[in-house]
Amino acid sequence: MANQLLYRPGNPIPTLRLLISTCILSRNSAFPSRHEKLHFSSAIPIIRSMKAVKSCSGDPIRASKSYSRQCYCANSVVVSEDETYGNKQIISVTSQLYDYILANVREPEILKKLREETATMRGSQMQVSPDQAQLLAMLVQILGAKRCIEVGVYTGYSSLAVALVLPESGRLVACERDAKSLEIAKKYYEQAGVSHKVDVRHALAADTLKSLIKNGEACSYDFAFVDAEKKMYHEYFELLLQLVRVGGVIVVDNVLWHGKVADPLVNDPKTVSIRNFNRSIMEDNRVSVSMVPIGDGMTICRKR
Ligand SMILES: C[S@@+](CC[C@H](N)C(=O)[O-])C[C@H]1O[C@@H](n2cnc3c(N)ncnc32)[C@H](O)[C@@H]1O
Repeated sequence: MANQLLYRPGNPIPTLRLLISTCILSRNSAFPSRHEKLHFSSAIPIIRSMKAVKSCSGDPIRASKSYSRQCYCANSVVVSEDETYGNKQIISVTSQLYDYILANVREPEILKKLREETATMRGSQMQVSPDQAQLLAMLVQILGAKRCIEVGVYTGYSSLAVALVLPESGRLVACERDAKSLEIAKKYYEQAGVSHKVDVRHALAADTLKSLIKNGEACSYDFAFVDAEKKMYHEYFELLLQLVRVGGVIVVDNVLWHGKVADPLVNDPKTVSIRNFNRSIMEDNRVSVSMVPIGDGMTICRKR
C-alpha cells in the first residue's frame, strides 16, 4: 500500500512526506500497526528516498526535533530531549531490528500454523505478534497461573499461547463475540490438545465477566489479557480487577495505539479513549503498572 504509492512514477515530495508520517506512526508503535498494514521491509525504501530529500547525521535521534522526526524510521535509537534523563538511549525498533527480535522468538509450531492461517483472513492484523504472545505466556508461567481470562480471542493466537503453558488443571476463560473466528480458535485448541483447558464464552465480554462475578468467582483469577473493544477498556478493567486475586496480573493491549496517544493533535474517539484509560491506570493506586513498548504497546498491571 504505502510502498506502492511511493513507487508511482513522478511521486511528488508532499506525497512522500505523507507516507513518511504514516511510517513514523507505525515506528512509534515498535511493531507494524495491527490495524493499518504497513510492512516494515517495504518501508525501508521510503526512508532512503526521504533521506535524499533531507539528509540525517549518524547521531542518535533527538525525539522531539521535527527535523529528526523525518529520520525516525531509519535509526534504532532515540534519546530523550529531557536532560534529567541524561543521554539515555532508548531502542526504537527498525525493520531490521524487528526481524532480529522475531528470529529470537520461540514460537511453537502450532502457533505458527495458526498465525499463518489467520494471515490469510480479514482482520489478521488484529492478532498479537509472536513476541507479545511469548511475553504473555511467560507472565503466566512466572505467576504460576492456573486461572486466566482473555477478553478478545479472535482466531485464538494469544489464547492458545496462554493455554499451551497452563498446567493440565489450568483454565482459560476465552471471551469472544464473533462465532466465525471462534471456530478457528477451537480448531486449534483441539489440534494443540488444550481444549480441556479453554472455556470458550461466545458472548459480549462484559456480560461474561459479570456472570463470573455473579457466580462467586471474584478474586479467583491469576491472569487476564484485554484485547477487545477499546472504548470498553475502563469497564473490562474494573470487572477484571474484581476477578483477579491480589498479586494477579491484568495485561492490556494497544495502549500506544500506533503512537497516536502521544500526539496531542490526534483526538479521534478511540485515541482519546485509550489516552484516558492510560491516564486513569497511571493514577490508580489499586495496581502497580508497567507500560511496555511491545507490539502496539501493552500495560502490565499487578493487583495490589
Ligand atoms: C484484537 S482482536 C483479538 C486478537 C487476539 N487477542 C489474538 O491475539 O489473536 C479483538 C477481538 O475482540 C472481539 N471483540 C470485540 N468486542 C467484543 C466484545 N464486546 N465482546 C467480546 N468480544 C469482542 C472481536 O470480535 C475481535 O475478535
